[in-house]
Amino acid sequence: MTTTRQRDRWATRVGLIMAMAGNAIGLGNFLRFPVQATQNGGGAFMIPYVIALLLLALPLLLVEWGMGRFGGARHHGTTPAVFQILWNHPLAKYLGVLGIFLPLTICIYYVYIESWTLAFSFFSASGLYFGVQSQAGMADFLAGFQGIKDTSYFGGFGHGIGLAYLFFLLTAVINLAVMYRGISRGIEKMAKIAMPLLFIFAVILVIRVFTLGAPDPAHPENSVWAGLGFIWNPNLSLLRESRVWLAATGQVFFTLSIGFGAVQCYASYLHESDDITLSGVTTAATNEFAEVILGGSIAIPVAFAFFGGAATIAFAKGGAFNLGFQAMPLIFERIPLGAVFGMLWFLLLFFAGITSSVALAQPAITFLHDELNLTHQRAVVVVWLVVILCAQPVIFGLKGGFLDELDFWAGTAGLPLFGALEVILFVWVFGRKNQDKEWAWKEIHKGAELKIPRVFYYIMRYITPLYLVALMVAWIWQAGPEVLWMKGAPAEVVTWKWAARGMMLALIGVLVLLTSIAARRNKPWPRV
Ligand code: ALA
Repeated sequence: MTTTRQRDRWATRVGLIMAMAGNAIGLGNFLRFPVQATQNGGGAFMIPYVIALLLLALPLLLVEWGMGRFGGARHHGTTPAVFQILWNHPLAKYLGVLGIFLPLTICIYYVYIESWTLAFSFFSASGLYFGVQSQAGMADFLAGFQGIKDTSYFGGFGHGIGLAYLFFLLTAVINLAVMYRGISRGIEKMAKIAMPLLFIFAVILVIRVFTLGAPDPAHPENSVWAGLGFIWNPNLSLLRESRVWLAATGQVFFTLSIGFGAVQCYASYLHESDDITLSGVTTAATNEFAEVILGGSIAIPVAFAFFGGAATIAFAKGGAFNLGFQAMPLIFERIPLGAVFGMLWFLLLFFAGITSSVALAQPAITFLHDELNLTHQRAVVVVWLVVILCAQPVIFGLKGGFLDELDFWAGTAGLPLFGALEVILFVWVFGRKNQDKEWAWKEIHKGAELKIPRVFYYIMRYITPLYLVALMVAWIWQAGPEVLWMKGAPAEVVTWKWAARGMMLALIGVLVLLTSIAARRNKPWPRV
């Protein structure tokens, strides 16, 4: 028995594009991108970034949209079932579990970071951190908020993590309210409000940054233009370093939500005749505009202008959140109407975050609904309880690196692996089964309003899978043993990281079990 219930659908084309762009545009664009670009040589980073965009991201995006629409037309919105359709092998559905595990795991820590942005927009509006003048002071402020350090900034809350916890719960409830209403009435409607607001806020901030020039007459070399020069002038010698290639490729995956399972789940709510090429390229272009043009024109140039190049690079190297949560607040204190600009910056991050977090939870929700016949509302509540439960060690084990461990395995290493599986199964395996090696290309072009240049057929077929495999080999070679055995890490960190690994294995175990139940219940499981 396979379910034949009516599936929810995107109500409008604009809504779909906003939701898909919201899925992609996230904290990655405005927080992760500036830090990655700064840590990896600015302009040098952009070369492998653009190469990965063309050779990996675009082909994979089309595969995910195509695979999603293909599965959705057969009432299967997640990869355990879709992989099984593509490759009729007992292992296929279990490989597909990754398409639920990865976004769910990312969602677990992503929602917590998202809640910081909401909190900091309140702190900006109320001026709570105004008066903290140094980087060390701002680092203390953030650490106090996260409960890592006792500070005096939060009054009674300073001795714990109370305020951060409150904002986490508030963020969790807002997410729940959106997801509970479903695809068209919840996510699509929210995206139609949040995305335009996000762009308006970003444009206001970019204009503000560009009009700052060189704010300190004693240091005319510290300017917005120096920051932009840093991003756009490549130091070609850095291209010899594999870490720059790996970081740029990882960023492309993260920002476009590729290799997550989330894009293909959203695409499963399309009609079979809906265009995917024009919509897919439009959302990717929107994401890149938000990342490279807007995201690249805020944090880096403004930090260069106020702190100078060396300090900005040191800020970024000091930690993933330093630019966004430490450098930016210090700058808001120094500009007129800083409280308002600070609030806009953090609200922008919050909108970017929430339109992505609801997408990250969606594959798990869709799986419970499509394959185990839970009602949508029940599926949302179950998934969200799991997210809240699993977020506890993220919140309380922040110092021990619990969040970093989830981010490494799910948010970094897992993505090219899953991307490789998707492209191999969709382009190679299913094409062979249909005795038509162009099957995937034709499927992607069904109802297409934009013809993708033919060269991408060859890229998708040969270069993308080979590039992904080479990337994973380089990754394992470079980081494998060190990361696996946590060489040199303090004992407390090792304990938290092993706990994170244990939790991830438990999540995979539960998903494998549910997949096997679904496959048995819906026997014969998806065939076409
Ligand atoms: N693509 C999302 C982001 O950039 C996950 O944050």
